[in-house]
Amino acid sequence: MGDLTTERSNSTGTGTAPVLVASNRGPVSFSTAEDGTLDLRRGGGGLVSGLSAIGDPDAVWVCAALGDADRRAARAAPDGRLDRAGHDVGGQAVRMLDIDPETFARAYNGVANSTLWFVHHLLYATPTAPAFDAGFRTEWQAYTAYNAAFAEALAAEAAPGAAVLVQDYHLSLAPALLRAARPDLRIGHFSHTPWAPPEYFRLLPDDVAEAVLTGILGADRAGFLTRRWALAFAECCAAVLGAEVDREALTVTHAGRTTRLGVHGLGADADFLRERAHRPDVEERLAALREAVGDRRAVVRVDRTELSKNIVRGFQAYRHLLRTRPEWQDRVVHIAFAYPSRTDLAEYRDYTARVRELAAEINTEFGTDSWQPLILHVDDDFPRSLAAYRLADVALVNPIRDGMNLVAKEVPVVSDRGCALVLSREAGAHAELGEDALSVNPYDVIATSDALHAGLTMAADERADRTKRLAAAATALPPQQWFLDQLDALR
Ligand code: F6P
Repeated sequence: MGDLTTERSNSTGTGTAPVLVASNRGPVSFSTAEDGTLDLRRGGGGLVSGLSAIGDPDAVWVCAALGDADRRAARAAPDGRLDRAGHDVGGQAVRMLDIDPETFARAYNGVANSTLWFVHHLLYATPTAPAFDAGFRTEWQAYTAYNAAFAEALAAEAAPGAAVLVQDYHLSLAPALLRAARPDLRIGHFSHTPWAPPEYFRLLPDDVAEAVLTGILGADRAGFLTRRWALAFAECCAAVLGAEVDREALTVTHAGRTTRLGVHGLGADADFLRERAHRPDVEERLAALREAVGDRRAVVRVDRTELSKNIVRGFQAYRHLLRTRPEWQDRVVHIAFAYPSRTDLAEYRDYTARVRELAAEINTEFGTDSWQPLILHVDDDFPRSLAAYRLADVALVNPIRDGMNLVAKEVPVVSDRGCALVLSREAGAHAELGEDALSVNPYDVIATSDALHAGLTMAADERADRTKRLAAAATALPPQQWFLDQLDALR
């Protein structure tokens, strides 16, 4: 974490990047190989393919070093610029910030993932949590320092008048900090999560709630995945800051500045998915899954093992289906892929244990020598997930609350025979897919079980028709256009 004056990259006092992206997790990560050298892995996702659309090698992506190997790589590169250290980081430059591990852990685990994530997804069991004590104040200081490190790096890399797209709840303070350092920049912030309603957002200490909102209002534009989340943000600004809100024009005016709100519903990348889903590694996994499922129906879910994804109630709904409609016994298999996430947090480890436990209970209650009712994998295997998408008769996507949920958009695109989509009305994707999905209240286990039954018994032609419409809606805004739209709107 250098200081601004030492990090400036040229004599004009500014950098040279015309477009910048900032996010906690970057487009590449490192691990240490057996011989001690660094192995680089390139990630995927909407931002990576979005940024590729501008094809500008001067664009800079600023991200944090997440683990020890990342830190080693960042430290060895001049100003953390991995591209200048000879790493093949893709179509843009990458500046990886070597934030000290304790500060990073407090900001990422303590504030971003245990506090802001919980607030926006309504995850607290409120009789005991949250409790904002002295420990939280230490974490909040770290979060502020972490945001300041991003703002400093962005200020150092940005050309005069550059466009900067800051991502997510990890970086809610960065826009205002960056504006103070570089008022010439055009700054956008984008929330990939839902936004909490004001009465829940106000669980946060007052000064923290104010800092989060005024931090984002430091941007010229604040983007959201749905109108619902944009309006929730506006309501929080009105309730907490007394800001003036125009709900039609989607603007928030506070302390003499107006921030425009934008809605950009990130869609699935159809070309990529269709091509990727027919490669040999997917075919191989599809054959193995077909063998396990036999001539039975398949209910599929693919998630991070994430509290908000509601995997436990999903399993309870499946168990209820088998208990109350015994005709499905030996005629259906539930394939659940729950890949590991945020394992530093006890809540996530406990949740994963509960998921495993419940899967075992269901298999013990109903399983026979020739039928395993629930196949659970808790490791990450992207080609295997695509194989499951292709095979699914019913996809279960039942989050408690979700910014968008791309699985709901991806399954209809690659499904081989058409797939009924059981979809939580609290997922952002529901705004676009609700009409052709089977909508559920994610807390209602019996209604979810009924929806699974409706999906399993849906006539083939209806299923195919709905899948076609779902796939069209799901791919309406591909990642590259999603990114370019935000850039255009900022300019
Ligand atoms: O939804 C918000 C988000 O940051 C996504 O962009 C990402 O897929 C997810 O959370 C993963 O979080 P983490 O980086 O903590 O694994």
